[in-house]
Amino acid sequence: MPESVKTKEESQVFKKACFQEVFMAGSGFMGRCIAYLIASRTQSKVYIYDISEASLDLAQSEIEKMGKKSVEKGLFSQEDLNEIKSRILRASKLDDAKNCDLVIEAVAEDINIKKDLFSKLDAICKPATIFASNTSSLPITAIAASTKRTKQFMGMHFFSPAHIMKLVEIIPGVDTTPETTSKVRTFAEELGKTVIASKDFPGFITTRLGMVLINEAAFALMEGLSTPEEIDQGMTLGYNHPMGPLALADFVGLDIVLHIMETMLEGFGDPKYRPCPVLRQLVSAGHLGKKTGKGFYTY
Ligand SMILES: NC(=O)c1ccc[n+]([C@@H]2O[C@H](COP(=O)([O-])OP(=O)(O)OC[C@H]3O[C@@H](n4cnc5c(N)ncnc54)[C@H](O)[C@@H]3O)[C@@H](O)[C@H]2O)c1
Repeated sequence: MPESVKTKEESQVFKKACFQEVFMAGSGFMGRCIAYLIASRTQSKVYIYDISEASLDLAQSEIEKMGKKSVEKGLFSQEDLNEIKSRILRASKLDDAKNCDLVIEAVAEDINIKKDLFSKLDAICKPATIFASNTSSLPITAIAASTKRTKQFMGMHFFSPAHIMKLVEIIPGVDTTPETTSKVRTFAEELGKTVIASKDFPGFITTRLGMVLINEAAFALMEGLSTPEEIDQGMTLGYNHPMGPLALADFVGLDIVLHIMETMLEGFGDPKYRPCPVLRQLVSAGHLGKKTGKGFYTY
């Protein structure tokens, strides 16, 4: 049997998960992949919500593409895929969250937008509902404070693309109960992920380490240590990283890297997190990486 063709037993089995109904707030790049992940690994229903109808339309067509790819790879039958799609429901209003057991938020990386959304959801959702934010760097405890359910609030950080990457980083806030942490961990494991837990300090584990490497690579470039290509090769060939830090920065977006460095600098108050001036300069020139055609590299 070709490696890509799996038996139904080997393929994704739709598990009965600890959260039966999930509200996915944000249907952008992360939201749509997380929604697909949940519907393709569990029997849970996912309501996908966004303020932008265009984003919901795009999510629908991207989910179609993900599904088609999975069928082509032999992970699902067409019948399975129809079942998966039937579990992803387009939410037309925030009120659709009222019976959900879990809310996962993946809206814009802006603390005020997140706080505003969670405070509205707090008034809509049943008291037992757990809230999770997919933020890459914003303080979980501060976002949680916009709700009255700080005990049931935590970070659930997926990686991109969420239906493929194996890791989920969970981040309890200051008031999060062990029960909440344990339920969210269980759910991530039901989704087939390996879970790591981090305390709520800026950048958690993964963003902090990843961004510090990128920022240091930018300093190395600024100091004339070497060329972007050779700095990246140092990490790809010397350390087996799949992508060098400067290429990764261009892929993530230099504006996002700068924003995260600023969040860490402010959160720790430690100058070791100061963003490299070259990073600031490229952002101010509008060279944000791959998405604008120019960053550390030209595309
Ligand atoms: N892209 C990544 O690699 C990645 C990885 C891990 C975590 N994250 C985090 O996930 C979150 C989303 O990132 P993304 O890359 O999917 O962004 P994105 O820009 O692709 O999607 C964000 C979506 O949020 C919607 N939105 C904005 N305000 C909203 C509101 N008030 N209510 C509902 N929807 C709203 C937008 O219309 C958009 O569709 C961010 O917090 C980001 O830091 C991103």
